[in-house]
Amino acid sequence: SLPAAAAILAAYLLGSLSFAVLVSRTMGLADPRSYGSGNPGATNVLRSGNKKAALMTLLFDALKGYLPVLAVVLFGARWGLAPTVAAFVGLAAFVGHLWPVFFRFQGGKGVATAAGALLGLNPALGAAVLAVWLLVAFTTRYSSLASIAAAFCAPLVQALVWGVDLSMLAIVGMSLLLVWRHEGNIRKLLAGTESKIGQKAAPAA
Ligand code: G3P
Repeated sequence: SLPAAAAILAAYLLGSLSFAVLVSRTMGLADPRSYGSGNPGATNVLRSGNKKAALMTLLFDALKGYLPVLAVVLFGARWGLAPTVAAFVGLAAFVGHLWPVFFRFQGGKGVATAAGALLGLNPALGAAVLAVWLLVAFTTRYSSLASIAAAFCAPLVQALVWGVDLSMLAIVGMSLLLVWRHEGNIRKLLAGTESKIGQKAAPAA
């Protein structure tokens, strides 16, 4: 339907705002694509040593997933949207983060945006997935490993607790894309060369 297409397009455009780049630019910091992993995301911005910039990146990248999903959850019926459209609006914001139209389609890995989208879809699901992320992050200090573990858990938790509907397609899609975007991290984890949370940046490879 036209309202569904409009909601998905709007979410994609919002997702295309690469806040790692925008926050760094606004705060007069180096472009996160030029150091560390080169990834425009909160984890890599933290490698600049600026915690405030990393936190702002995390917050805004999560909000761009959360807000459009929440808007559809709250007002979707009024706009004639089926309830499952919310999940696809989340996927659209996530896809915007990965392939941002405003940044030559070179975006990030989607962790914060996926977390925001899941929180908007179902706060309990979001909280469960966040708990997995925190558990793995605190025990291993690897942001990437925590993100991959959380991505595996999202569809499982959703299926076990709420069953399977069309939303599952969007959730599985986000998880698969997220893990695929961590291919380089997986290689480094296996080689034992992945950097731990808060380790300062080496120049981008
Ligand atoms: O936020 C993405 C995270 O899982 C990995 O980021 O910079 O270590 O590749 P990075």
